[in-house]
Amino acid sequence: MKLWGGRFASASDKLTEDFNASISFDQRMYRQDITGSIAHARMLGGQGIISSEEAELIIRGLQEILAELEEGKLEFTVEAEDVHMNIETFLTAKIGEVGKKLHTGRSRNDQVALDLRLYLRDEISEIRTLLLTVEEVLLNLATKNIETIMPGYTHLQKAQPITLAHHLLAWFEMLRRDLGRLEDCAKRMDYMPLGSGALAGTGFDLDRDAVKEELGFASLTRNSLDGVSDRDYAIEFMSFASIMMMHLSRFAEELILWSTEEFSFVELSDAFTTGSSIMPQKKNPDLAELIRGKTGRVYGDLLALLTVMKSLPLAYNKDMQEDKEALFDVVDTVKKCLLVLAPMLETANFKTDKMAEAAKGGFTNATDLADYLAGKGLPFRDAHAVVGRAVLHCIREGCRLEDLSLNAYKEFSPQIEADIYDFIDVAACVARRQVPGAPAPSAVKQALAEAEEWLRGSK
Ligand code: ARG
Repeated sequence: MKLWGGRFASASDKLTEDFNASISFDQRMYRQDITGSIAHARMLGGQGIISSEEAELIIRGLQEILAELEEGKLEFTVEAEDVHMNIETFLTAKIGEVGKKLHTGRSRNDQVALDLRLYLRDEISEIRTLLLTVEEVLLNLATKNIETIMPGYTHLQKAQPITLAHHLLAWFEMLRRDLGRLEDCAKRMDYMPLGSGALAGTGFDLDRDAVKEELGFASLTRNSLDGVSDRDYAIEFMSFASIMMMHLSRFAEELILWSTEEFSFVELSDAFTTGSSIMPQKKNPDLAELIRGKTGRVYGDLLALLTVMKSLPLAYNKDMQEDKEALFDVVDTVKKCLLVLAPMLETANFKTDKMAEAAKGGFTNATDLADYLAGKGLPFRDAHAVVGRAVLHCIREGCRLEDLSLNAYKEFSPQIEADIYDFIDVAACVARRQVPGAPAPSAVKQALAEAEEWLRGSK
């Protein structure tokens, strides 16, 4: 018979059982479910709601069930519907009648709210570590490439010279914000919901604080209706994940572009690329493409849960069981992506010669020529026009700005002197950009020092 079967005169249809059950996916929360139940049982004993011997029996039973589950000795059943009732069923089978007292003053509604928070708390801590590992790889790469000149782009057109370190630090900043969002989410999730009951709390004299302390939460949920029907933390986590995946997708996109023969800025290692079944010459950036592709499913999961929640009246509704597969999918996807991204970056061969060569094309030093003239007192807008004419001339001649003779320069502006060649050398263009946050090696060194300190403090 079902744990809730008393009110029913006949059994559920098999279709109902299958449709209703969540055990196939919520079994992944069995550890959290048992941890929560142990804390609840201990508190029931402490309050004299059940005897301390009964509490002891229940706790020992749950601990044994945990060990048996870890050893693969117990099998979940669809008949028991979800992880909560499966474990309660195991317990009663193991310790007898006393097991039936565990659910005193508790509902599956506050139980699942607790389990999900405990589960997500564990996963957040793992994801945090994975994210910091990618940050560390980026910092190490940046440290080695402070002087590596490359073109910076706008509109995917060469714009101004930067360095590889500077580019990598831009990625670093994106992930640093993601980490902040993840930590915010963990803080807002840090409320213990047991005691909310089904929706209206409980008449039993529960010591919610004791449970909160045992489970390591900062606070108690403040309203029982909200306690059982809030899934903001899952949505917030998935929002964090969506924004982070958007970032990973942008990194992936650049790695894919840079791996083309047309760019040739990077060669991903054999270990993190794949071949083609027909074209023998191919080395494809499949992993980067999959990171980019998996971004879509994470957005989809976020949208799915937002949509599930959007019209739910208070308090619990079974719709909310649909939170788990979406959330678990996000957790799995994000972890896998971070896990491959770190070594893929670490083993990539950045072709610094190609980058330096590319930085010389596309008139990336044109702004500096205009700045040179502005430095001589020409209003910047006029300097811009002069250089525009010089660029047009070069395009027609098929040459670069640095190829123009001094006489040719004088035609465009008499203020241009022989020092112009050193001035518009791309390395000089980069070195001059020293304001905080700019790509000059001096500025990047400072940025790196700050980033390293932050990373050390975050570990
Ligand atoms: N399996 C359910 C879920 O994940 C647990 C809560 C069930 N509560 C209920 N009143 N049916 O949402």
